[in-house]
Amino acid sequence: MSFTKNANNIDRHQFLRKLGFGGASLAAVYFGAHLQSCTNDRVTPAPTNLTVDLTASGNAALKTNGGYIIKDGVVIARSNTGAYIAATLTCSHEGKNQITYQTDHFYCTAHGAKYDNTGKGLNSEGKNGIAVYTTTLTGNILTITA
Ligand code: FES
Repeated sequence: MSFTKNANNIDRHQFLRKLGFGGASLAAVYFGAHLQSCTNDRVTPAPTNLTVDLTASGNAALKTNGGYIIKDGVVIARSNTGAYIAATLTCSHEGKNQITYQTDHFYCTAHGAKYDNTGKGLNSEGKNGIAVYTTTLTGNILTITA
């Protein structure tokens, strides 16, 4: 099927004009359509009282320095010095829930944002930093709180 312009066939701009859109309202229609294409993930909520049993097989990664798990929107890691640390799964760059942990820093797999163990950004993508949480170890139970 091909389209040719004739009296019964108008383009989108002309159609919107006929509906009464003009100037700023026409711009809002175009920009509004663009903004709807935003693909940010849902921001993960801060933990209130998240617990991790370090003896559970699913948490074995936390027995090794540089290992990490993801639970309830939180990245829980064992740093290169053996400290337990935690941060949000949501990156401050474009809101993707793709934060991981690599050896001694948090890393977003979407575009490469890097954050140190305190959440401070280490490159331009990570310049806004990420939220880190308090960890408390009692026996084999690690508790994470905002
Ligand atoms: S969303 Fe994380 S680096 Fe872009």
